[in-house]
Amino acid sequence: MREQHVLLLCLFVSYASIIKSSYLHEGDECKLEHKGNYSKFPEDFSFGVSTAAYQVEGAWNEDGKGPSIWDTYTHLHPERIADHSNGDEAAESYHRFAQDLVALKELKVNFYRFSISWPRVLPRADTRVQNQKAIDYYNMMIDKLLENNIEPMVTMFHYDMPEELTKFGGFTNNIVIKYFRYYADFLFKTFGDRVKKWITFNEPFDYCVPGYGNADFPPMIHAPGVADYLCLDNTLKAHASAYRLYKAKYSNYQKGKVGITISSRFYYTNNPDFGSEDIVDRAMQYSLGWLAHPIFGESGNYPFTVIEDITSNSMKEGLAWSRLRPLNLYWSKIVRGSGDFLGLNYYSSRFVHMAEPPGGEIPSWEHDSRLKYSVDKRWKRAKSDWLYCVPQGLEDILKWIRDNYNNIEVYITENGWSDEGELDDTDRIDYLKSHLQAVLNAINDGCNVTHYTHWSLIDNFEWNRGYTEKFGLYYLNVTSKNKERVAKNSASYYRSVIESRKLS
Ligand SMILES: *[C@@H]1O[C@H](CO)[C@@H](O)[C@H](O)[C@H]1NC(C)=O
Ligand SMILES: *[C@@H]1O[C@H](CO)[C@@H](O)[C@H](O)[C@H]1NC(C)=O
Ligand SMILES: *[C@@H]1O[C@H](CO)[C@@H](O)[C@H](O)[C@H]1NC(C)=O
Repeated sequence: MREQHVLLLCLFVSYASIIKSSYLHEGDECKLEHKGNYSKFPEDFSFGVSTAAYQVEGAWNEDGKGPSIWDTYTHLHPERIADHSNGDEAAESYHRFAQDLVALKELKVNFYRFSISWPRVLPRADTRVQNQKAIDYYNMMIDKLLENNIEPMVTMFHYDMPEELTKFGGFTNNIVIKYFRYYADFLFKTFGDRVKKWITFNEPFDYCVPGYGNADFPPMIHAPGVADYLCLDNTLKAHASAYRLYKAKYSNYQKGKVGITISSRFYYTNNPDFGSEDIVDRAMQYSLGWLAHPIFGESGNYPFTVIEDITSNSMKEGLAWSRLRPLNLYWSKIVRGSGDFLGLNYYSSRFVHMAEPPGGEIPSWEHDSRLKYSVDKRWKRAKSDWLYCVPQGLEDILKWIRDNYNNIEVYITENGWSDEGELDDTDRIDYLKSHLQAVLNAINDGCNVTHYTHWSLIDNFEWNRGYTEKFGLYYLNVTSKNKERVAKNSASYYRSVIESRKLS
């Protein structure tokens, strides 16, 4: 996982007295009340856990793997990682999947969401070189999972782009659409007989804005309001192309589902004035809606507000074109409806306000959106400075999706809490319990949410935060030779929920 827009966050004091705390009970910061008739999760509801290749696999240069932009970046810029670490070894899952499997079986999860490393299977990004040892590894994983009645859910891209592609602009060059389509074809052909749930991209905002906007992530391009938007645009088209390919070539006999994972917060307003609903909607269109609206909305295009703002700002800046080109008819047809489900990564929420005058660089996402954010002082905070426990936000974003996207099926593909890695992790249990309550409340209210995935199975490499923020249900003993996975208290809590299908 990785939260977007950390740098854009404008935290300021929120005046508790004027906040109508209808959804928050003072002192109960990480709790949520039960609502609705059913206290149990439906029989066919699925519980899982998640990891991502670069964060757990290690073996960064073994068995023919090509470098990814995260290998290059962490090696060239250790100073940018909180503890100067990298994913060279991480949890060594490439060699220790057997240990991961023990943990997965212990949890009794219904599915495991993991990602395939593109440069591990296709070291040169295209299909000329197909790395058989990597194919063997993922085949082994998939087969072992299925033998143990754990369904594989595969993310095709989770930040670790082949370094090869940066030679010609990475996500800013639309040739990436073609490269991704051939990569996807290779994955469907190689693993699709057994993998029935595919996620094309994980959190486009969170690699596009830091990667191509504010240079906080590889490939460290600083071109906000331009290159980050190109990255989102090419990601959207690459996703839709892979989806159409699956429908045309594989879905008849493989019968799987293909979706995309988008991260989003929900937004609240403490301004009772006329128009406050519009601010919440605006904030949603500038986050979840940017990519979800073209796929799951009616227009087959970016949200109207976003197109309009950016066109008008581009003109004001003296450009002869808009920095965000709306999709043309050809792309609109391909993109609209290109998802069997919406993958949602939810961690936290914010209060939102109009920024007068707009902040941020000109141009930038922050400046175009004219939004700024704050938190409620009573929200409990995790080790990560952006992560506050707001379970009501999960219930509310699920209802927002129900109402805006025709009740499309939702998989919650990530949700989790960071700390120092203690085994007695009461705060993680509170977070898990209250967010599962949010899911149950949403189901009781007719939301089409069918999967919940906790981030993460094990403590892992948390991008620029290195190993300083731990999200695992299992502790990773980094100092021991065998890198044991040790169950935290939250692991047994989660197992009890999965077994009983209710919250205790
Ligand atoms: C809960 O059950 C009651 C009684 O059967 C019914 O009237 C009500 O509509 C139900 N509420 C929901 C949210 O399903
Ligand atoms: C849930 O989503 C699936 C797939 O989009 C759809 O077939 C089904 O009708 C939806 N269920 C409800 C209750 O809307
Ligand atoms: C981690 O491994 C070291 C060395 O094997 C051991 O001394 C320590 O107790 C382990 N920590 C935990 C929490 O298991």
